[in-house]
Amino acid sequence: MATTFGLFYGSTEGATAVAADVIKEEIEATGLATVDLHDVAYTDLKVMESYDVLILGISTWDIGQMQADWAYKFAQLDKLDLNGKLVAIYGLGDQYAYADSFVDAIKTLSEKVMQQGAIPIGFSMVDDSYEFTYSEAVYKDVFIGLALDAENQDNLTRKRVRAWVQTVLEDVGLLVPQPA
Ligand SMILES: Cc1cc2nc3c(=O)[nH]c(=O)nc-3n(C[C@H](O)[C@H](O)[C@H](O)COP(=O)(O)O)c2cc1C
Repeated sequence: MATTFGLFYGSTEGATAVAADVIKEEIEATGLATVDLHDVAYTDLKVMESYDVLILGISTWDIGQMQADWAYKFAQLDKLDLNGKLVAIYGLGDQYAYADSFVDAIKTLSEKVMQQGAIPIGFSMVDDSYEFTYSEAVYKDVFIGLALDAENQDNLTRKRVRAWVQTVLEDVGLLVPQPA
């Protein structure tokens, strides 16, 4: 039976929600896993504990801050046991208008779930297609998740998601890594 991932997203104007649909489509197209979608605005975060693999989607607002629904429920994460759970995070941002705080909220959420015992997976390269100046979500040329920019580079979203899904499935052990 296919593994089921839990995808939890917070989205103010819909971009992170649309990306959640794309990620679900791309994962399910592989036939290796299914994805349950949860909008955190309407979800008790305790539900996160029922999945072994989590994908979290968060946009960045107000210069480096978390999307409002995640911010509102952030303290609930302190009560969760995420020990050993594999967690991949994607973030939406605007790298031209907010070039110095691009997808910063990925980092805030990542640190929090790691405090609760989660193991981060699904890192991706900062390749030449990105044009931001600074991001808290970058460590040594690698995003600690996936960065998407629906405002300026929506045409790249599907391609980025497809490559990222490959990485996530490899990290989870459902796909054998391919040589570069
Ligand atoms: C007032 C405002 C502040 C923003 N601040 C940031 C920011 O600091 N960093 C960033 O990468 N994007 C920032 N953005 C861009 C949003 O993250 C982007 O529009 C995203 O697609 C919103 O996703 P959502 O509709 O799913 O919430 C900001 C947008 C607005 C309107």
